[in-house]
Amino acid sequence: MTTENTTPRRWLRRAGAPRLEFGADYNPEQWPREVWAADVRAMRAAGVTIVSLAIFSWARIQPRPEVYDFAWLDEVIDLLHAGGIAVDLATATASPPPWLTTRHPEILPVDLHGNTVWPGGRQHWRPTSPVFRAHALRLVRALASRYGKHPALAAWHVNNELGCHNVYDYSDDAANAFRAWLRDRYSTLDRLNEAWGTDFWSQRYSDWDQILPPRQAATHPNPTRNLDFKRFSSDALKDHLRAERDLLRELTPDVPVTTNFMVMGQMNPMNYADWAAEVDFVANDHYVLPGPQARDELSFSANLTGNIAGGQPWFLMEHSTSAVNWQPVNVAKKPGELHRDSLTHVAHGADAVCFFQWRQSRAGAEKYHSAMVPHAGEDSALFRSVVALGERLASLSEVAGSGRVPADVAILFDWESWWVAENDSHPTDRLRYRQEALDWYTALLNLGIRADVVPVGSSWERYRLVIAPILHVVPAALAARLTAHAQENHLVTTYFSGIVDEHDQIWLGGYPGALRDLLGIRIEEFGPLLDGESADLDNGTTGTLWTDRVDVTDPAVEILARYKTGEQAERAAITRRAVGAGSAAYVSTRLGPDGLTAVLPRLLEAAGVTSELPSALRGRVELARRGDHRFLINRTSEPVDLGPDGILEPRAVKIL
Ligand code: GAL
Repeated sequence: MTTENTTPRRWLRRAGAPRLEFGADYNPEQWPREVWAADVRAMRAAGVTIVSLAIFSWARIQPRPEVYDFAWLDEVIDLLHAGGIAVDLATATASPPPWLTTRHPEILPVDLHGNTVWPGGRQHWRPTSPVFRAHALRLVRALASRYGKHPALAAWHVNNELGCHNVYDYSDDAANAFRAWLRDRYSTLDRLNEAWGTDFWSQRYSDWDQILPPRQAATHPNPTRNLDFKRFSSDALKDHLRAERDLLRELTPDVPVTTNFMVMGQMNPMNYADWAAEVDFVANDHYVLPGPQARDELSFSANLTGNIAGGQPWFLMEHSTSAVNWQPVNVAKKPGELHRDSLTHVAHGADAVCFFQWRQSRAGAEKYHSAMVPHAGEDSALFRSVVALGERLASLSEVAGSGRVPADVAILFDWESWWVAENDSHPTDRLRYRQEALDWYTALLNLGIRADVVPVGSSWERYRLVIAPILHVVPAALAARLTAHAQENHLVTTYFSGIVDEHDQIWLGGYPGALRDLLGIRIEEFGPLLDGESADLDNGTTGTLWTDRVDVTDPAVEILARYKTGEQAERAAITRRAVGAGSAAYVSTRLGPDGLTAVLPRLLEAAGVTSELPSALRGRVELARRGDHRFLINRTSEPVDLGPDGILEPRAVKIL
């Protein structure tokens, strides 16, 4: 097995040997000047190497339309530089200042009910507003001209978490831009009418100007318009990213440009697989979501980020030292979790471990959000843990620059299937695309099997086993790729896969249309389950959420499990069709992590995939590999005996 390309496309502009960077968002404007020098001293004590600066500083940098105030920022950047700390300088366009929204209320987004999204929070700007764009680019130009040559400047940080709050805008600007985007995609109205199926409910358009974003409608809106609006909204923000990036590249060609993605949880509006090529290196923000799979979800997100980055190192721009402030109940991290979370990101390719934020705010909406320096100050367990993390990262510089070692198993990840499968007016509104993918990932971890979570558009042909959970949107070309793959290798897919084409139109003739022949099955009707209902299988597992009325149509299909109870009793529940030297398997219900852990061994065996871990460690330890390094991550709260490699403390990570 070879290591993926180990040369980053482009990394920070800074001198010195490769190392794992360590730092945070730094918001000095929230503090009096006297604190700044103390901050830099404490950063040095903690081993901080880089900070992201000026993310929300627009109102300070440009207090009035014609007035710029760089004095404070000059001072902060010089102080940081004198302390040997590099700067990832934000373009400061994330939160427009009050003078701008007062003078130009037409930049404010409009929600689907037609209400204005007022200032008072942040990100109150329309991605498609030409007025906002002009003001933002003016600010970008001013910053690039002033700081482009500053020796502390290591990278540009475009805006911040593009689309975190303003991705879906239903304003007239959005309507105009949506129409232009649609003209580009379809060229003619006839093609659009065909793709959207507008003969349904008399929706046929006779003029482009009749097309609107999916504003609040009387009932279920046209699903293909929904899909195109999601594609368009992701593209509109990508367009903003490109506009800032292009100007930065023109003015400061030697400074790399990035922006922080949000590969985490249910955050699905931005198709990051499609954005990755726009940045010089991928950066991600990740926050742990409470729940039984919290740790695995972090690993899953880091893994996907690493594969979005093409296996090359990426930058963890934000995570938290402890509690956040935006969940219903915000719990502190348990001992060990800060280090384990950070090092799990490193295990999956992060060459920088940064936090939101350096010093915990005293005022504002995020004052209860943890930081590297808590309200209690430097004399605190949290700060001591931060210092220890800085030391650990400094000792791991030989990891920096190494690429991910690909696994034998891939889980395909598809933003369009995520968008469409969770649309309304479907057989069930309970289906959760990412949860199903995560369940497979957890099951593989339970068995000690390394897997890569890879975007469906990337090259996954080398994987011996490809798992495609709820791969709902399958255009003809993708069906052909999957079919070719299963000739030599092994494919597993699940319920509600292969159902529609790229226009969200059904593949006819029985489900799962696009994959029916490949799987050798035919489904006339879906059998979604009500809350609390379940269906037992004859292999001892239990399905929830969904069942299918499966008919086996090809004698080459082996029935791996049948339904024992419920409407589908006696019918096939899990099937596998031998195809050439490979196979194509189908799982027709939601088995959850435990059920999948029980079912996977047969599928892995057929693909010839075995665990790289000794049996005593499987399930308790996650293995990740970068270059020659093996990361052993304790998934449990108990010590694990690694034999000759010693004891792996609870929630700890060992790097061999
Ligand atoms: C991110 C954001 C940061 C901070 C953080 C809190 O969404 O980029 O500015 O708000 O969340 O968790």
